Amino acid sequence: MRLRNLKNKDEIISNCNYLIKDIDNLDVCTLFDNDNPIHLEIGMGKGQFLIKMAMKYPNINFIGIEKYENVLARAINKINDYEINNIRVINMDAIDVSKIFNHNISCLYLNFSDPWPKTRHSERRLTSGTYLKSYENIFVDKKIIRQKTDNVGLFESSIVNLNQAGYKITEISLDLANSEIDNETTEYEDKFSSKGIKINYLKAEKE
Ligand SMILES: C[S@@+](CC[C@H](N)C(=O)[O-])C[C@H]1O[C@@H](n2cnc3c(N)ncnc32)[C@H](O)[C@@H]1O
Repeated sequence: MRLRNLKNKDEIISNCNYLIKDIDNLDVCTLFDNDNPIHLEIGMGKGQFLIKMAMKYPNINFIGIEKYENVLARAINKINDYEINNIRVINMDAIDVSKIFNHNISCLYLNFSDPWPKTRHSERRLTSGTYLKSYENIFVDKKIIRQKTDNVGLFESSIVNLNQAGYKITEISLDLANSEIDNETTEYEDKFSSKGIKINYLKAEKE
């Protein structure tokens, strides 16, 4: 996601009291004042999905990860418009998730992740074998990954990689907006849907 530089991004980020700053010494159990399940979104972008989900499910805690400060600052600006207690955000690359989470996460969302269409970049996809391996120990018990994408190539490679990693696809749609599946949309999803592009969705589970 390429965005114009936000002038006051450093100020927005340093004033954010739900941004997890010291990830090296993080005790995930102390992040929320309750033992509710924690759901994680990697590549949260400008935060629309996280906000809608946190408001819809107040008994679930949500953590959003975003690689770029410039994007994260925009998400923080948006989250600040609401009174939401069940969101935390982290500025980090997803490749390090296993250093932070250790059997804490109940569900992982990968929404419109970068498709990395070239074969030589395929391991950069958030559902590559490399990334799926790094998610292995983040889950509390059962592993649950929900993916949405407009990109058919990414979707197909995800299905192959998830199967190879021992996941079962338990829900799938090639046209999410016209399915019965309960859904909150992301910024990218709204953009693609407004152009008539169909959204692919899957839920993958592993015991
Ligand atoms: C195409 S955008 C989608 C944003 C949002 N999920 C949506 O659907 O509107 C992908 C987002 O993932 C972030 N991202 C890409 N690779 C990442 C990584 N390895 N770790 C963390 N964030 C990443 C990008 O910076 C960008 O904000």
